[in-house]
Amino acid sequence: MSEIQNMRRIHVFDTTLRDGEQSPGCTMNLRDKMLVAEHLEALRVDVIEGGFAIASSGDFESVKAIAGFVKNASVASLCRALPKDIDRAWEAVQGAKHPRIHTFIATSPIHMEYKLKMTPDEVYQQAVAMVKYARNLCGDVEFSLEDCSRSERPFIYRVVEGVIAAGARTVNIPDTVGYAVPDQFGQLITDIRANVPNISQARISVHCHNDLGLAVANSLAAIRAGADQVEGTINGIGERAGNTALEEVVMALHTRREFYQADTGIDTTKIYATSRCVITVTGSRVQANKAIVGENAFAHEAGIHQHGVMANPLTYEIMTPESIGLPRNKMVLGKHSGRHAFESRLGDLGFHLDEARTNELFGKFKDLADRKKTVSDADLEALAHGVQTMVVERVKLDRFNVTASNAITPVSTIRLERDGKLVEQVAASDGPINASFKAINQILGLKVTLESFQLNAITGGTDAQCEATVRVRSGEHVYHGRGISTDVIEGSILAYLQALNVLLEESAPKQA
Ligand code: KIV
Ligand code: ZN
Repeated sequence: MSEIQNMRRIHVFDTTLRDGEQSPGCTMNLRDKMLVAEHLEALRVDVIEGGFAIASSGDFESVKAIAGFVKNASVASLCRALPKDIDRAWEAVQGAKHPRIHTFIATSPIHMEYKLKMTPDEVYQQAVAMVKYARNLCGDVEFSLEDCSRSERPFIYRVVEGVIAAGARTVNIPDTVGYAVPDQFGQLITDIRANVPNISQARISVHCHNDLGLAVANSLAAIRAGADQVEGTINGIGERAGNTALEEVVMALHTRREFYQADTGIDTTKIYATSRCVITVTGSRVQANKAIVGENAFAHEAGIHQHGVMANPLTYEIMTPESIGLPRNKMVLGKHSGRHAFESRLGDLGFHLDEARTNELFGKFKDLADRKKTVSDADLEALAHGVQTMVVERVKLDRFNVTASNAITPVSTIRLERDGKLVEQVAASDGPINASFKAINQILGLKVTLESFQLNAITGGTDAQCEATVRVRSGEHVYHGRGISTDVIEGSILAYLQALNVLLEESAPKQA
């Protein structure tokens, strides 16, 4: 393939931590968000939208913390086009090296009439006034026309022209309800470019939802028509059917850059690790045949395909697993594997941990290798994510004992270590896991609700490790926990304790 001159650089705006987090079950706490943000920075996205600062104190704190640590990407907070929202967004992002305020108002007839109860003139005035207001605070302002794909053309042109004149550096064209189809959405971008006189003074962004399964196709059609920025989430998580899956757009552009005459600044070799991190912190898995990051995306099962790939990978592979950071050869480690092989495999899988975390992980790896004949990549990833999360263990499982059968009510005895003391409690319930959670709640005196609980086998076989993920709610706060063990009850207890440890840590009085 020949190298391309004058290739357009498409900016990547990641909203995993804002729009992605709005999807049911994907709520992340500060620790989760920081971990994802670390991966997004390594992936080299151009903008990280950390949250919706006015939505809750948790959102505000997360955006602020991300703003404080991200060095290369811009950090944005979403806000409605209202002074108090914009002030709060600015408060959250002002510490960033490259802060951005992202403000929006709906422009479609249905949203203006029924949701906003405003006339088009009022919406126009407010959009322009609020962009000016935001520009007085921050040099980088993005404006979104919510539900743009269902808005009327003359009004779109008017608003886009007005907000650019007011100082918006990026104008975002969302397909909020996932209604657009590619030809039409591409044409919308072409028309905006042709009908807005000052359009060259701003970047055009697109933000698509996947209700018809077309978010990636719509985003690519828009890029082909001249959009300069694409918004989306890792693994396509997001409200309803989700957002544009960024890894798909990025790899489509990268693989077909001659066609698009465009590419991103993304380090594609970090895609796999970022995707795994998002799966881990949200507990939201991707389907096996999902493009780019699904378990089968690079698996060649049919003999004729395997033969072809061995003779020349290009026969059936349009991109290599290595290009997304997925090691081609699955390496299996065991109890005789040394530290060198262990560390090098961790590096292949995209984990670069400090010495303390590597030591801790190596200990866990040895324990696991004693219990299991072989430790696969999936096992190692699961362990590594657990260690990477580094939850402060205010309470620790010392031991548990469960009696269960189909003839008696299951009973669990849990012994926890808290502040150097052992505390024990017995509880009965309709299942051994439920009984264990009940005993833990009684020991800790916590009033929490278990919002979700999932068990997955990480690898096949009777000695498979199980991964338990839980989501626990306490008031307006949600905590995730994850536990890994070859025993499903132990894995579940560890997951539950991890979530509660985050809760205890967050509610502990902070040192001045
Ligand atoms: O989908 C949407 O319209 C949004 C905007 C607020 C950017 O998420
Ligand atoms: Zn959205």
